[in-house]
Amino acid sequence: MCLVEKFVYFGNSLYSFLNSLYSFSIRLDRYSLHSFLGICLLLVQTEGLAETRIINGTCAADEWPWMAAIVYPNRPAIEGQYCGGALIHPSWILTAAHCTDGEDTNSIAILLGRNTLSDEGTGELIGIKNIVKHPDYDHDPENPAADLALLQLEKPYTQAAVLRVAEAYSDVTEVGKLATVIGWGQTSTKMRDSYADSLQQTAVPIVSNQVCNARRTYDGEVKDTMLCAGFAGGGTDACVGDSGGPFVMETDAGWQQIGIVSWGEGCARPYYYGVYTRVSSYQEFISEHVCEAQDTLPAPQVEVSINGQKATVSWNNVIGADGYQFYYAPYSDSISDVTFDNIHSLDIKNDTDFSAELSSGENFYVAAKAYRGNCYSDYSNIGMVIMP
Ligand code: ARG
Repeated sequence: MCLVEKFVYFGNSLYSFLNSLYSFSIRLDRYSLHSFLGICLLLVQTEGLAETRIINGTCAADEWPWMAAIVYPNRPAIEGQYCGGALIHPSWILTAAHCTDGEDTNSIAILLGRNTLSDEGTGELIGIKNIVKHPDYDHDPENPAADLALLQLEKPYTQAAVLRVAEAYSDVTEVGKLATVIGWGQTSTKMRDSYADSLQQTAVPIVSNQVCNARRTYDGEVKDTMLCAGFAGGGTDACVGDSGGPFVMETDAGWQQIGIVSWGEGCARPYYYGVYTRVSSYQEFISEHVCEAQDTLPAPQVEVSINGQKATVSWNNVIGADGYQFYYAPYSDSISDVTFDNIHSLDIKNDTDFSAELSSGENFYVAAKAYRGNCYSDYSNIGMVIMP
């Protein structure tokens, strides 16, 4: 069903293109124009099957309940959509700051719960009461910095679970792993009117910032707070209209957002990977802005037990928590030696303990936080795992 809709759009843009051709070449009579059109439509249809979406994506099933379209509300969504976003709190959408340039709370709105934009009457259109751009956002269209904004909904949306944002110290953003980008943006670099009607998705591997900053690639333009993904040979990417949308990774604890579609040199070009805002760099900023008193959870208490080579850290169940984030850092005699660089975290979901086989001398500081959505308790007490 999604494929058929796309053909209509391919067909339409081809039709207008051929119509303009028609007005130039008077020699072409209507009959031959129409048989020519017919053949082209056939060609487009077969091409449509091979070369699909986002750039080289497929239709998304309804697996992305937190996916938001950012729209100009006074037009049908198929025309009014221009960016994507993700529901990361019942009252907040995370998007790219550049999607809010020149806009105010009255000029744009959020569409949730609609997979196919032309399915008017489905989903919910919600107004915005507050736009929070990151204070470091730099609006350089070629290479923005801190390209993220939070949009506060006029009323909470409770039909869908929120998308979890990769935690500040988590290691989910691993080079070489595939992650999925989702959006209604352009599906072809060749045709300008190739915006998608049905939500598209595609998977691309995470590329290290070092590779992405190579001379023939972005030559140092990519900052630590950005994340690159794509194939060296190009061909698969996000594109115009996908901006602000989530780049998500499947983890043991479910799908997590690791990036926000931000920029790129063209789309799907060899060596010019898609560049995303690295969400884990801003997780604390995001949580601070969206979480309110009612989201606050009490901190758990951790306890360490060691049995032979097996160390177990357990904590109490926190009422109202969706899960727990577990933190560890190498042990040294002084806790002041723990720096931000040597803290790691793992999303444990709703288990209340974590164990590991360790050898003598593998010692750690450990702690846990309870979370609901993207709102965290304070740290627990700090435990010490000292292996005999
Ligand atoms: N900045 C573009 C937008 O506003 C899309 C950027 C993504 N480009 C890319 N090649 N991944 O929609």
